[in-house]
Amino acid sequence: MLPMLQLSAPAKINLFLEVLGRRNDGYHELVTCMVPLAWADELHFIASPQLTLRCSDPLLPLDQNNLVLKAALALQHHTKTSLGAEIYLNKKIPSPAGLAGGSSDAATTLRGLNRLWQLNLSDAELMNLAATIGSDVPFFLAGSAAWCRGRGERVTPFQMGCKLSLLLVCPMVGLSTPAVYQTLQAPPLEVGLQQAMSETAMLQALRMQSPGAIAEALFNRLQPPAERCLPLLGELRQLFETARSQGLCLGSLMSGSGSSFFVVCRDQDETQRLVRWMVQTWEGGVQTNNMGTPESKPGPMERTLRLYITETM
Ligand code: C5P
Repeated sequence: MLPMLQLSAPAKINLFLEVLGRRNDGYHELVTCMVPLAWADELHFIASPQLTLRCSDPLLPLDQNNLVLKAALALQHHTKTSLGAEIYLNKKIPSPAGLAGGSSDAATTLRGLNRLWQLNLSDAELMNLAATIGSDVPFFLAGSAAWCRGRGERVTPFQMGCKLSLLLVCPMVGLSTPAVYQTLQAPPLEVGLQQAMSETAMLQALRMQSPGAIAEALFNRLQPPAERCLPLLGELRQLFETARSQGLCLGSLMSGSGSSFFVVCRDQDETQRLVRWMVQTWEGGVQTNNMGTPESKPGPMERTLRLYITETM
């Protein structure tokens, strides 16, 4: 058994997300393009007789409602091991935010404990186990951008030919994924398949390796229902449409089931200029987080945005 291990668990964004329709098992059939970010939680694993979890964020649960512990227990159960670990989660990715921080933590826990406990589970076995923990978990085992189908668990990895410079915009208010899907009122799969948005434009843009073309092809079927759940998101869409029309960014989209947005910029200098513009323009609070010169401004919690400069991996 290894004594200890430290791994990062990246956030993701969805460049394209179409809901093909409602399934009989209560899930929705998806086609989505997911990309991991350079921005990540950190996980520490130390060999120990007991299985315990500690977390930097006192608001997060430390029982099976935390996907880290759910993943560790699933791995123990699957392999019938009695080995334990002290796990420490240094949380940086907000949730629920549509950035799949919890799912990424779960995938990293599977990878980390597979190594710490020297279980030698194959990639296919880990993928199957990951799918029992959550729809987004298998994607993070791929370790690269991927097209995901089914409920999200059928993963086809690909290499991004270019990096995207991003500003992540996270409202303090999150959204419940089931509530957003319910508000969508997707048709049954047989009907939905006939009217689905094609992913061809995004495939072509990715092949061109052009951030501008990728920004043109961004699409998320969950954005309109999310805006109905949280009208602030409609305001954010309009704000970034204005920024785009003023040449301040290439495009923007809500990620996953929200509530975070990502804004695609030409380079890191442009993201910095966009931050300054947002501090001047947004009628609400702004918290800058991982930037050299903080330009935060106070505002009511429900209108405060946390900004992070990052890029795709
Ligand atoms: O798989 P996961 O536990 O992350 O999904 C959380 C919830 O999101 C599900 O219970 C379901 O309501 C919704 N969901 C869905 N279709 C998907 C993925 C998630 O309806 N493909």
